[in-house]
Amino acid sequence: MKNAFPQEFLWGGAIAANQVEGAYLTDGKGLSTSDLQPHGIFGEIVERHEGDHGIKDVAIDFYHRYPEDIALFAEMGFTCLRVSIAWTRIFPQGDEAEPNEAGLAFYDRLFDELATHNITPLVTLSHYEMPYGLVKNYGGWGSRKTIGFFTRYARTVFERYRHKVKLWLTFNEINMALHEPFTGVGLPKESSKGEIYQAIHHQLVASAAAVKALHEIIPDGRIGNMLLGGLLYPLSCAPADVLATQRQNRDWLFFGDVQARGYYPSYMTRYLREQGVALEITEEDRETLKSTVDFISFSYYMSGCVTADEALNQQMRGNILNMVPNPHLASSEWGWQIDPEGLRILLNMLWDRYQKPLFIVENGLGAKDKLEADGSINDDYRIQYLNDHLVQVGEAMEDGVEVLGYTSWGPIDLVSASKAELSKRYGFIYVDRDDNGEGTLTRRRKKSFNWYQEVIRSRGASLTRK
Ligand code: BG6
Repeated sequence: MKNAFPQEFLWGGAIAANQVEGAYLTDGKGLSTSDLQPHGIFGEIVERHEGDHGIKDVAIDFYHRYPEDIALFAEMGFTCLRVSIAWTRIFPQGDEAEPNEAGLAFYDRLFDELATHNITPLVTLSHYEMPYGLVKNYGGWGSRKTIGFFTRYARTVFERYRHKVKLWLTFNEINMALHEPFTGVGLPKESSKGEIYQAIHHQLVASAAAVKALHEIIPDGRIGNMLLGGLLYPLSCAPADVLATQRQNRDWLFFGDVQARGYYPSYMTRYLREQGVALEITEEDRETLKSTVDFISFSYYMSGCVTADEALNQQMRGNILNMVPNPHLASSEWGWQIDPEGLRILLNMLWDRYQKPLFIVENGLGAKDKLEADGSINDDYRIQYLNDHLVQVGEAMEDGVEVLGYTSWGPIDLVSASKAELSKRYGFIYVDRDDNGEGTLTRRRKKSFNWYQEVIRSRGASLTRK
C-alpha cells in the first residue's frame, strides 16, 4: 500500500483502567461501578464484601507492571497510548472536597513513564466506571449534583496533569447508556426512558463543562467526545427499512450532535415529545452545552443491519446494540460481524456530518489465541482484521477525511468489558492469565507484535490490500 499516513498520525493502542489496572482498593481507591460487575457489563451487579474476589481486582496488574508494558508498547513504536483515569483513585467516593494524593501520584508516574518513551497520552476521564458512592448516595447521573462532582474531578486532573497530558476524552462510548444504564449513567437496568435520558442529559452537560474547563486550564490541549460507532445499514432498500435505519443511527449520533454542535437536534425534540419524556433542561445547561468538542473519537468493531420489523432487529446482539446479521459479512468467534469497509463508510459519514477531526480510539479483534509449545502465538486472524481495517482508514484519508490517529483496542490482553473474560484476547502482547484468574501474568509477544511494529515503522506502507 502506498504511504497514506502522515508523519504526525498517532499510532498506538487503547486500554481502560478497570480492564487492566487491578489494585482495585490500593492506595485509597474507592469502589467503582465496574468493581460491582465482576461478570462484565452484561452480568449481574454484585455488592462487594471483604475477602471476596473478582477477575478485575487484579486484571492484568497494570498498576504494578506498567513500566514493563509501556516498554513493550514503545518497542512496537507506539506514539500514542489511550488510557483512562479511574475516577475512584482520585475521588474514592466521588463527593470528597479534596482529591486522594496517592491516586494522583500513580497517574503522575504513568504519564512520566510514557514521556520517557515519547508516547503521547490520550486520556479518557470516565471509561465505563464511576464512583459507586455517587450511585449509592445520589443516584448516579440521575442526580444533577453529579455534574458538579464530575466537573471537580475533571478540573482536578486537568490542573494536575496540564503539562503532561494535552489530549483528552470525556465519556467512553457515551451512547451506551441507552443500552446499559448502570455502566453508562449509574442507573438500574429497569429505569424508564425518561430517567435514562435525564441522566444522559446531565452527563452531556458534564461533558461540555469538562470541555470548557479544559480550554481554560490547558489552552494548548484538545478534548474529544467518544462514541460507540454503531454503524447500521438498512437490511433492504424498502423505504421503511431505510427510515428505521436512519432513526436507529440517530439514536447514537444524537450524542455526537449535542457534543459537536452544542444543542439538541430537532429530531430528538420530536422523539422525546412522542415518548412522553419532558427533560429538565435549564438555561444554564443550554449555555454550558455550547462548549463543543475539538475532535470526535469513536470505537468501531462491527456493523449491523436494521429492518422496520422490530422482532427481527432483536435477533442479534453486537457489542452493545441489537442488530440484524448482514448476509454479506463473516463474524468473529463472538458473533461480531467483520466489516472493514464499514470503517471507511463511518469515517466519511462522521466527517461529512461534523467537519471535525476524527480519532479511531478503539478497533480490534477479540479472539481465542493458542499458545504453542515453543511459546509462540500465531494470530494471523488478528493481523488480517487489523490490516484490512487500517487499509480502509488509509482510503478514508484519501477521501479527504481528517484522521488524527488510530489506537487499536487492547494492545495487551485485558479483561473484556462485556463478560469479564480473559480468553477474549485483543492484544499484540499475550498475558498468561485465564478466565478463572489462573496464570503467572507473564507477557509474551505475539506474531502481530512484529507485524504492527512494521506497520508503524513504515507508516502504513507495509499494509497489504486484497
Ligand atoms: C468497547 C469498550 O465497547 O468495546 C471497551 O469501550 C471494550 O471497554 C471493547 O473492552 C471490546 O468489548 P469486549 O466486551 O470484547 O471487551
